[in-house]
Amino acid sequence: MLALVLASCGPKTPPEAPLTPTAPAPEAPTPPQRAAVPAMPVEPATGPAAPNGVNPFAGAAFYIDPEYVKKVKGTAAATPAQSALLKKMESFPTGLWLDSIERRPQIDAWLADAGKQSANGKPVVPVFLVYDLPNRDCSAKASNGELSIEAGGEARYRTEFIDEIAKRFAAYPKQRIAVILEPDSLPNIATNLSVPKCAASEDVYRASVAYAVAKLSLPNVFLYLDAAHAGWLGWDGNRTKMAAIYKEVLTQAGGVDRIAGFATNVSNYNILSGDDGKKLEPSNPCPDELTYVQKLSESLAAAGIKDKGFIIDTARNGKGGIRTRWGNWCNIKGAGLGERPRAAPVPLVHAYFWVKPPGDSDGVADPTQPRYDENCSSPDASPGAPQAGQWFQPYFLDLLVNANPPL
Ligand code: BGC
Repeated sequence: MLALVLASCGPKTPPEAPLTPTAPAPEAPTPPQRAAVPAMPVEPATGPAAPNGVNPFAGAAFYIDPEYVKKVKGTAAATPAQSALLKKMESFPTGLWLDSIERRPQIDAWLADAGKQSANGKPVVPVFLVYDLPNRDCSAKASNGELSIEAGGEARYRTEFIDEIAKRFAAYPKQRIAVILEPDSLPNIATNLSVPKCAASEDVYRASVAYAVAKLSLPNVFLYLDAAHAGWLGWDGNRTKMAAIYKEVLTQAGGVDRIAGFATNVSNYNILSGDDGKKLEPSNPCPDELTYVQKLSESLAAAGIKDKGFIIDTARNGKGGIRTRWGNWCNIKGAGLGERPRAAPVPLVHAYFWVKPPGDSDGVADPTQPRYDENCSSPDASPGAPQAGQWFQPYFLDLLVNANPPL
């Protein structure tokens, strides 16, 4: 997914991907080749939202997904030699991906269970990924979704997906909830309009994200927009463009105070600090993810978006030096678990968190399969991967062995 432009990575499956890999002038304007399909209007939110400038993870615990623990236990049963490491993996929180309409019933199950995980009155915060935009993953193929703009997907996204999620979140007013919205979506609008599917989706992407913000910004729900990663938006021109898009979309949604912040490195592999990026893209002023977050917050402030926090996906960024091209985003070989999820690890960062559940594939490696993206058989990709989101056991075991810090 994602693309990056140069670099990328992403969420979803990858956001990464970028798309234009070859050498790009990351900041050069690229004229759209297909006109954007006009979008439905958005009514800005006016009701109460979660408090602004607050870190929802401070003083709280993260919710542990029993569905993820089941996958870990399945691997433990199949590989008893690794049981000690695997046992540890049962205690880590991971992102809860709502990647299709049929995932809706699971929301109630998770929210009811989150209440039960809370002990001694300490709040337990689930982190949901809302990821079913019409024409999803416009610059790559591995995470193309179920809704298409041409087939009425915009209206279905609103009524069958976002409204239904909002209803369920509102039914648990005492449950604090964090939400990361639509990985790769607006970053694709910032840099990938030369991809015809992205150009055609521009208006609907903007309006759909604005709609999601307006509907989901409830007093108990802390929203984070996806902000790609250092290797995609690190260049000054890209960050400036991105900040202007956020400002427009948030204004449509009811104002910049509707969100708590931004999520970066979702499903990507960028290290927190070091010179990995300098070697891969010397012109990028953000060689690592912490530099990116710092510079992005400056670009956002210049656009009038202040006091926001960041969630950095550290699920698979423990090891640097594992890519030959920064734009490679799919099942990167040699990756290891990164920092364990924790609140407020450094200034500006609300949490390090395992957004991409370690062990879930980024995309299928077999070129004969649907949604095959060639990034999933790049020289940096692990062979034999199943479809995006499916359990990739050998890759999972490698992540544990390569963990940094060690498990
Ligand atoms: C996939 C989703 C999956 C998520 C988490 C994405 O790349 O497209 O279906 O839920 O990764 O693994």
